[in-house]
Amino acid sequence: MKVFKSIREWQAERTSLSGTIGFVPTMGALHRGHATLLESSRSENDISVLSIYVNPTQFNNPEDLTNYPCTLDADLALARELSVDAVILPRYADMYADGYHYRVDETDFSRTLCGINRPGHFTGVLTVVMKLLNLVRPQRAYFGEKDHQQLTVVKGMVDAFFMPVEIVPVVTVRDADGLALSSRNARLTTEARRLAPLFPSLLAEPDDDASIARKLADEGFTVDYVETRNGRRYGAVVMDCGSHTVRLIDNLPMHEAKGV
Ligand code: PAF
Repeated sequence: MKVFKSIREWQAERTSLSGTIGFVPTMGALHRGHATLLESSRSENDISVLSIYVNPTQFNNPEDLTNYPCTLDADLALARELSVDAVILPRYADMYADGYHYRVDETDFSRTLCGINRPGHFTGVLTVVMKLLNLVRPQRAYFGEKDHQQLTVVKGMVDAFFMPVEIVPVVTVRDADGLALSSRNARLTTEARRLAPLFPSLLAEPDDDASIARKLADEGFTVDYVETRNGRRYGAVVMDCGSHTVRLIDNLPMHEAKGV
C-alpha cells in the first residue's frame, strides 16, 4: 500500500495507473461503515484508493473541527488489512492553494435539512469532493447512505458537471442495537450511547414527522429536524454529553418504516 502526502507525487503515480479505480473519500476515524465502502471498491475495481482528509471548509462549527477524532495509525492498519492500494493524505495548503476562492455551490436541496443549521457545509463538501474526484479520476466513488443528503448532492454535482464517474451508494452499517455507525459515535458518553439507538428506532415509527420529533424531544434529544422528503425520512438530533454535544444524523426509506 502506497501512502501519498504530496498531491504532486500522487498525480505522478496516477498517470502510471491502468485498470479501473474505485475511490473512497473519508475524513478518517475509520469504522466498519468505511470498511464496507472499501470492500465494495475492492470487489468492483482493479485498484482501490482511499483519501483521509479532515476538510475544514465543511465544518461550520470550529469546535466540531477541533474535536473531530483522528486515528491515523489505526486507519492505515485497516486500509492495509483491506488491501487498499493507495492512500492520499493531502495537506490544506495543497488542497486549497486557491484560498477557497473557487467553490461548488448547490442552491436547492443542500439548503434544506442539514444545510439549514450548517450553513456552508455542503459547499465545503462539494468543493472538496470535486477536487478529490479530479485528483483521483476514479471510475467509481463510494458514498454511504447514512449521509443520504450528501450522497444526493454529490450525485447531482457529478450529473450536472458531466463528470465521468459513477457514484455508488452503500447501505448504512449499524450496530446490533440499530445505531448507524459514525466517527462521531466515539464521542458519546456511556449514558448518551445507551439512549442513542432510540433515535433510529423512533425515526422508523409509522407516525408523522412532527409526532416523531416530539417523542424524540420527550426522550431527551435536542431535535434539529425530522422531515420526510421524496419518500425518505431524514432526521438529525443533538445529544448532550456534559462537556460537549454530539450531533447524529440518520435516514430511512419510508417503505422500511415499522409496520409498512
Ligand atoms: O462523508 C465524509 O466523510 C466527508 O463529507 C467527505 C465525503 C469525505 C468529504 O470531506
